[in-house]
Amino acid sequence: MDSLLIKGGVPLHGEVTISGAKNAVLPIMAATLLTSEPCEIRRVPGLSDVRFMGQILTWLGAQVEFADGAVRIQAKKIKGAGDYDLIRKMRGSICVMGPLLGRLKKATVSLPGGCVIGARPINLHLKGFEALGAKVVIEGGYVHASARRLVGSAMFLGGRAGSTVLGTANVMMAAVLAEGVSVIESAACEPEVVDLAKFLTAMGAKITGAGSPTITITGVKELHGAEHEVIPDRIEAATYAIAAAATDGEVILRGARPEHMHAVLDKLTDSGVKVERHKSGLKVRRNGRLKPIDITTLPYSGYPTDAQAQIMALMALTPGISIITERIFESRFMHVSELARLGADIEIEGPSAIVKGGKPLSGAPVMASDLRASAALVIAGLAAKGTTQVNRVYHIDRGYENIDGKLRQLGARIQRVEES
Ligand code: EPZ
Repeated sequence: MDSLLIKGGVPLHGEVTISGAKNAVLPIMAATLLTSEPCEIRRVPGLSDVRFMGQILTWLGAQVEFADGAVRIQAKKIKGAGDYDLIRKMRGSICVMGPLLGRLKKATVSLPGGCVIGARPINLHLKGFEALGAKVVIEGGYVHASARRLVGSAMFLGGRAGSTVLGTANVMMAAVLAEGVSVIESAACEPEVVDLAKFLTAMGAKITGAGSPTITITGVKELHGAEHEVIPDRIEAATYAIAAAATDGEVILRGARPEHMHAVLDKLTDSGVKVERHKSGLKVRRNGRLKPIDITTLPYSGYPTDAQAQIMALMALTPGISIITERIFESRFMHVSELARLGADIEIEGPSAIVKGGKPLSGAPVMASDLRASAALVIAGLAAKGTTQVNRVYHIDRGYENIDGKLRQLGARIQRVEES
């Protein structure tokens, strides 16, 4: 198992290219199951989650070929049941259920368990499938959905924490081949949902309102093959922007889309970071002393939960008190105790973390617990005095393409080593 060794204290400088968005490409790859014709998806990030989705689609019967930053997929003949172990290992794979149900009128996948950041139920996904007329049965660790016909209908998909991203994606993918009109209320508005709707429309689907809380889908008889370029990863861009601020550096994020990052850029500006549009994307640099800020994570276009840990690392470096409240996932503070190992002073009070920032951090061995927590530890390590060893970086490889290579490009003293 690998770990990352980081010698901190070097301001990041230079340009870095933002990869395609993990949370857009996963449902888009699953959507190719809706047609027997070939599809080509470009700007596909080299991530373990993406390769995993490729294995799942291959298991279901599709031909999957990765080459030159693209993936070609043809799901000529497919089966309706996913492999228990494969699907259980990656939550995001639940989004094969909608396309299988849409095309085959039946789908069986293993019930995704909880994960370190929260219980993460799929009741809203299933509620949407039932609204389309599917019968849903949970048995033996599997969830089965089947229907003689799928019929469009109106449904409300809001839950405990508001909208659901993959729930909206899954139901949308089932509804595109249903008879008649479906209306999803309290739909997720994330750019990744809009990107999926764009790909489905390129395949011949009829969708309006993607990006708003009300999505209308008019079912069609069948879909055809299509090509698509995935949007850049706004969370990867946010991570590099925060790393630039944490190290008092200046970085250009090539390909970043500021219009997808308003909440993050607004908070960075409030904390004293200079953010400018740049011909190739975004330019970020510190603008004097950092100021403490308060953050509450919310569904899009609010502040993203996937950038909560990273901004907490920045606030640990910032003199003053910041309050960071997590409203989406009930246990997404695993990084707090590891940041404390680097000298951060953070207290958890219910859904909030009170960050008493400004104490200099010093390097130490730390343990990654999940994807975004590990990104926060890397940022803290880049700013800390001495050497930080981030263990279990397989978490970070799930969502960041070549992170150590990209950071070295920006001048960081970072290397990947076999875990000792
Ligand atoms: C997506 O997960 C992302 N994953 C997550 O990114 C991201 O954190 C999350 O959206 C929120 O933005 C992918 O796109 C692969 P949700 P998803 O359904 O769709 C509750 C990362 O770091 N809920 O929007 O699974 C749920 O428990 C990952 O890249 C129900 O109650 O998240 C949570 O509290 C982590 N019932 C809230 O809604 C349901 O049926 C939002 O979850 C579904 C969700």
